[in-house]
Amino acid sequence: MTITDIRTATKRDLAEEAMRHSWFPVARSVDLDTPQRATLLGVDLVVYRDKSGRVAVSDRRCPHRGADLSQGEVHERSIGCPYHGWEFASENGACVRVPSLADQSKIPPKAAIRNYPAVERFGQVWTVLEDPIRELYDPEEWQGVDLEWAAADPIDSPVGVAVSIENFRDVAHFPFVHKVSMGPTPEVVEPLQVQRDGLEVWMDRPLNAGTGEWAGDGNCMMRYHCGAPGFASITYHYEDLGRRVVAGFPSPISYEHVTIFWGVANEVGFKGASLEENLRLEEIVYLEDVPIVENVVPREVPWDADYQEFSVPADMFTLNYRRSFMELMNLAKGQADVAASA
Ligand code: FES
Ligand SMILES: [Fe+2]
Repeated sequence: MTITDIRTATKRDLAEEAMRHSWFPVARSVDLDTPQRATLLGVDLVVYRDKSGRVAVSDRRCPHRGADLSQGEVHERSIGCPYHGWEFASENGACVRVPSLADQSKIPPKAAIRNYPAVERFGQVWTVLEDPIRELYDPEEWQGVDLEWAAADPIDSPVGVAVSIENFRDVAHFPFVHKVSMGPTPEVVEPLQVQRDGLEVWMDRPLNAGTGEWAGDGNCMMRYHCGAPGFASITYHYEDLGRRVVAGFPSPISYEHVTIFWGVANEVGFKGASLEENLRLEEIVYLEDVPIVENVVPREVPWDADYQEFSVPADMFTLNYRRSFMELMNLAKGQADVAASA
């Protein structure tokens, strides 16, 4: 984005710019037996693990004649195109072999695909399109805790990242959207003790398990935690059982369409339900949200206030998440200003 763009940029433009500089998952680690297709903010990607074990995230289009590299074959340290077999290094995307050439020193020197950073965390492969504004999420409440992750089947949802995160961490919708999975839960929301520090928002709340699937696990404190733009989690700390986690990482295919990567984790030695059982139950909950959220208008938070919305104290957590997202937009703007004046 150039300085002229930045000066006239709407908040929506800044939100999109901020997300180009933010980490998002693009595949699950467990799926990397074969190359995976992904799209992040309109950029078509291939995600693969080469035979040496390195994970790579690269442009999906082969620069020879445009074939789809996700249909290609993985080699020791490269991916081979399915069409004419050109190979691109997992380390940097450079073309390292053109099978039709007798003399490999004749490889067109600029033939390369763009590579992006690739980090495996929480059972997912994360990448970032441009210089990251912030580090990859590393919540304080998980540091020093031995968590074992299970990555869920990703969910397709035709809304933006912020709408998806707000749904994940909204507290007033349980008695309406989740009456089947949670049973009757209180409608009145107590005053929320929300804390925010920069891009992080959190609060602690006792669990009201209702009469649903989790009733009977005993006393539990929940740590709700969001990070702008795309991290939301609940850490359940049971007095008797230990800790378990559910976390959502919506990843923008486009501004108003996400793939929700998500998963659950149990602390090693957790005495409650197994990882598989928690995954099954959390999926029931998530799938209750999908039909409601996919019809929300507009499809992303109206940052430019072009839709009217009213808020009440029960929205305090999501309002703080919006503040953290706006702070991220300001950081993106600052980064773009610096880049433009350099
Ligand atoms: S299109 Fe990829 S090698 Fe020809
Ligand atoms: Fe929900």
